Amino acid sequence: MKTITCVEDLRVLHKRRVPKMFYDYAESGSWTESTFRQNSQAFADIRLRQRVAKDISKRNISSDMLGERQRMPVALAPTGLTGMQHADGEILAAQAAEEFGVPFTLSTMSICSIEDVAAHTRKPFWFQLYVMKDRDFISALIQRAKAAGCSALVLTLDLQIIGQRHKDLKNQMTAPPRLTLGNLLNMATKPRWCAGMLRTRRHSFGNVVGHAKGVENLTSLSAWSAEQLDPSLSWDDVAWVKEQWGGKLILKGIMDAEDAAIAAGLGVDAIIVSNHGGRQLDGAPASIEVLPEIVAKVNGACEVWLDGGIRSGQDVFKAKALGADATLIGKAFLNGLGAGGKQGVTQCLEIIEKELDLTMAFCGKTDLREVNSDVLYTDA
Ligand SMILES: Cc1cc2nc3c(=O)[nH]c(=O)nc-3n(C[C@H](O)[C@H](O)[C@H](O)COP(=O)(O)O)c2cc1C
Repeated sequence: MKTITCVEDLRVLHKRRVPKMFYDYAESGSWTESTFRQNSQAFADIRLRQRVAKDISKRNISSDMLGERQRMPVALAPTGLTGMQHADGEILAAQAAEEFGVPFTLSTMSICSIEDVAAHTRKPFWFQLYVMKDRDFISALIQRAKAAGCSALVLTLDLQIIGQRHKDLKNQMTAPPRLTLGNLLNMATKPRWCAGMLRTRRHSFGNVVGHAKGVENLTSLSAWSAEQLDPSLSWDDVAWVKEQWGGKLILKGIMDAEDAAIAAGLGVDAIIVSNHGGRQLDGAPASIEVLPEIVAKVNGACEVWLDGGIRSGQDVFKAKALGADATLIGKAFLNGLGAGGKQGVTQCLEIIEKELDLTMAFCGKTDLREVNSDVLYTDA
């Protein structure tokens, strides 16, 4: 097998090893995918200033997120159906993040349940919440996250309605997958994935099945998720969630400075500048393009993090330079997971760490916390 040296290598292997339906689910944007592509392109367009003859022998890229020191300012973003990219995917990714020393976020729509991930990890992880119409279910979910020792709640605000991804419809994507002839033929070419799935009992949405009213099996689950997203979600609901949770709260999916100001005014601990990896509003700018305006508007009232398009340490460095306190990765770690399970996620983190450290050094800096827009060409 070819030596893995970058996240792109992991993506190629992910594509080879995981059934098309789930690889496509990870690597798609909504409609024309213009925002999905722009997330990466905008990073590529930023130019860094190379500096020389500075003592860069001692370097530090560790950073704080919510007052806790992390090995680098990169958390694993919440991603639904992660346990379909690799058997027990959420547990493996959480363990890899924990051992490496960065935060892991469990999605509401995970395959492994909150309790299951808690039982297989030692450190607290973060839980991501989608507000559904069934508020009793949401209250119970918040209590379950508390009981499992989750140390922060990530409330996602940009999925009140769902963006259309053509491939998911064409592939008839479900978890577990429907055993059509086409799917069976495709799965037959992915023996490692099949072996893992045959070994595990975790095949459907662990936080929902058996917990939400009337959801006991796959048929009732599809109907439930299709009708449960709540388009009426408002800032009042955010205040309600904040009260129910009572701990550290992060709002995810902010792309507008006015929304950022409202969020900061509610006294949240962090916001995540995010367009959901280009999976929701096609035509929105790249998240990195709106970051500076949002950072200026928030003016230190809470931490400002960014996700969308990060595939390398250079991207993390550029986000830091443009004012992000920290970053999250979605597809990059899924590529690692699909390519090689827990070891693949670790590999992804190690690749990004090395690139981040060396990029900082090439720019003549020795402490990531001191990096600002001085490292950029401002007309970039
Ligand atoms: C396959 C997949 C599933 C996702 N599921 C969720 C989810 O359940 N909850 C959520 O808040 N965001 C979800 N996201 C968005 C990510 O949290 C994150 O915002 C995005 O992946 C960042 O962009 P990147 O993939 O380019 O790093 C998902 C993203 C992907 C790729």
